[in-house]
Amino acid sequence: MVPTPRPAIADPALTRPDRLQDSGRDPRLLWLDKNENRDPAQLALVSRVMAEIDPQALASYPDSGALYRKLGRWVGVDPRCLVLTAGSDGAIRSVFEAYVAPGETVMITAPTFAMYPVYSRMYGAKVVQLTYRPSNRGPVLEGAEIVEAIAAHRPRLICLPNPDSPTGTVLPPDELRDVIAAAGEAGAVMLVDEAYHPFSDASAVSLIAEFPHLVVARTTAKAWGMAGLRIGYAVASPEMAAYLHKVRPMYECSTVAVAAFEAMLDHTREMAESVARLEAGKAAFLDAMERLGLRVLRGKGNFMHVAFGVHAEAVHAALADICYYRRDFAEPCLKGFSRFSSTTPELFRPVIDAIAAAVKGRVHA
Ligand SMILES: Cc1ncc(COP(=O)(O)O)c(C=O)c1O
Repeated sequence: MVPTPRPAIADPALTRPDRLQDSGRDPRLLWLDKNENRDPAQLALVSRVMAEIDPQALASYPDSGALYRKLGRWVGVDPRCLVLTAGSDGAIRSVFEAYVAPGETVMITAPTFAMYPVYSRMYGAKVVQLTYRPSNRGPVLEGAEIVEAIAAHRPRLICLPNPDSPTGTVLPPDELRDVIAAAGEAGAVMLVDEAYHPFSDASAVSLIAEFPHLVVARTTAKAWGMAGLRIGYAVASPEMAAYLHKVRPMYECSTVAVAAFEAMLDHTREMAESVARLEAGKAAFLDAMERLGLRVLRGKGNFMHVAFGVHAEAVHAALADICYYRRDFAEPCLKGFSRFSSTTPELFRPVIDAIAAAVKGRVHA
């Protein structure tokens, strides 16, 4: 007989995608579907840094003290406030692992990063979902609504990506501060997920000193161009970081990831330049879509939304051999919008031309 796992894992509602169904993406197409970094110059920099990693690293367990100290200087916090993790996903999971007991309430947004509902189930939490409303400006969820919901439900943990994904929404700094303060008053842990920092440069990191219940999750997967290396970090008060260290694996991430991130921290200017190029590409793409009469959302993060409306079928057919992207969301707040990750103005050119041809009823050559 197959042993039954703990109840939350046995729950048939907890499902994960079948890895054997992964067929890989065609390297001839542009990959604009997973919000990775699609700036060739940044990827070339990461390749150069990787090529310089001492091959000894492959045979050795990681030694991450130097990275903690260097990262602390860059983030502007004591290294005791940091926990390295396997992507920001690892930081999120550590917060659940350390703080959420079965039956406790977790508050998440909807739609949001896919792992929030998964970890909520995995750790047996009751979920309160705050759903973004549709509006002319795109998805809306105000800080005051979150504050009210915190007071009503008194959750153990509140998870708020800022910017959120896939919505691209951000809370203004004063509203975010009110939400963090309300979480503290309710005795909750507040997780602000900054996976899209510095595409949105506002950050809650400076509030860590004031709010000991606040944890910020960040990643190297987006701006830094290192999604495949699976390295991110949590920033929190030294006391909270110490609890997160208690649930870390033997080694937080691989020796290669540690060495790569340490070296990449000498290239913060290049990372910022990559972000600027991707932001320029995003603006060029959205401007072109608007000139075609299409509705766009100018949210934050290295991604953007366009509604193709009556042209959807023609556009999807025209782009099938050009790029991957996320087609036609069904959630009410993003209904009919397709999402594209940012790339450079040059790489966006063929995408824009194909969409223009489809919208104008011409066949793309
Ligand atoms: C809001 C948000 N948080 C976390 C993640 C996970 O990122 P990572 O690759 O660092 O685990 C993503 C990935 O897309 C995301 O959109």
